[in-house]
Amino acid sequence: MDFKRFITKVSNRRKPGILRKWAKIFMETPNAISLANGMPNDKTFPFEEISIKYKGGHNIKLSGEDLRWSLQYGPSQGYLPLVKKMRDLQEYWHKPKYNQWDVLVTPGSMEGCSKVFEMTLEIGDPVMVQVPAYNGTLNALTPFMPEFLEIAQDHDGIIPDEIMKICKERSRDGKSMPKIIYVNPTGANPTGTVLSEDRRKRIYELARTYDFLIVEDDPYCFIHFLAKQPTSFLELDTEGRVIRLDSFSKTLSAGLRLGVVTAHTDFIKKLLLHMETTCIHASSMSQMLVYKLLDTWSMQKLEQHFDDIQRFYRERRDVMLASIQKHLTGLAEWDIPDGGMFVWIKVNGLDDVMELATKNCVSHGIFLVPGHAFNCDFGKPDQHLRLCYSYATTEEIEKVPFPLFKIFFNIS
Ligand SMILES: Cc1ncc(COP(=O)(O)O)c(C=O)c1O
Repeated sequence: MDFKRFITKVSNRRKPGILRKWAKIFMETPNAISLANGMPNDKTFPFEEISIKYKGGHNIKLSGEDLRWSLQYGPSQGYLPLVKKMRDLQEYWHKPKYNQWDVLVTPGSMEGCSKVFEMTLEIGDPVMVQVPAYNGTLNALTPFMPEFLEIAQDHDGIIPDEIMKICKERSRDGKSMPKIIYVNPTGANPTGTVLSEDRRKRIYELARTYDFLIVEDDPYCFIHFLAKQPTSFLELDTEGRVIRLDSFSKTLSAGLRLGVVTAHTDFIKKLLLHMETTCIHASSMSQMLVYKLLDTWSMQKLEQHFDDIQRFYRERRDVMLASIQKHLTGLAEWDIPDGGMFVWIKVNGLDDVMELATKNCVSHGIFLVPGHAFNCDFGKPDQHLRLCYSYATTEEIEKVPFPLFKIFFNIS
């Protein structure tokens, strides 16, 4: 892959910092003496030992070298044992079909995603985005004043024909071609759709035909309710066209703020320069905690954990759907989400739900998000509401559709 067409002028001007490079070599050289690094001396830190108790009774104590690593600056690519572990896991889960790929640990996948946008988008560039889309993504894109090329979804996720139509017409009309498409393929936020296998393949082929990169934002990858794990774009990729964003937020902890970018090595090298001059690296302590967990658990245990999470959310989804079915039939429309944490409902007989969501629902003590938050144009009227079944208790989830019924009934 030649990334020249994709990387912005600003990103291209980033150069490796001599100190970070030096620090990396020092960290990888046993018994080296360094008078070069301005690292604080960890003897001055007030931590003696850190104990972690996992659910299930397993304990870990961080002391000595592990504690020092957890408290100190580290390589911008990530704590090396975790980087290695993530390479192994990506190989196991996605089996990338080309060799020159690598991973980089970020402070959450949103951070990775924002950096990818900053690396690829000049002001005013066209960008293909699945709509509705995660509000954080749209907020990250908006300052680039992009030409939003909206790709609609149905029950099977984004529609490849729409991508083809846009690309074909722009190519015919001599307009600038989009460099990236943003896709949230599994358990999409806010719709809960899972992009079908056929569509994944077609979209990848379109990316090759029209030469764009696929930004695969997949934090709900392991939160789906299907019999088979969906094939990732990374798995379909034969040449480094996919930039994959994974997150530990939904499966291990959101507060640890850890995500992983997997992409072509040339792209990862550029991303590394971006990390060096922003956050420097993801939290060392968070990386150590996740590494120790992944190192302690067998693959079977990790996959069991994902199964448990799927069961947990599926039960809640079903409670919410049953109650919605009971109280909102005829007043609203919805699809059954195949993954993620949300039910996306369309309120019948109302062109715009903003007032309903922000006034009527709030006055009944119910907080949900109006569809506007997930549109490229936040001011556009919207009939949808996003109901999240991940956090409230099952009793609360079951209780909410009845007051919604009363509110919808009064306005319909
Ligand atoms: C689609 C999507 N992408 C990214 C994120 C942010 O993930 P992280 O916590 O890893 O930054 C979220 C969080 O809700 C999300 O829904």
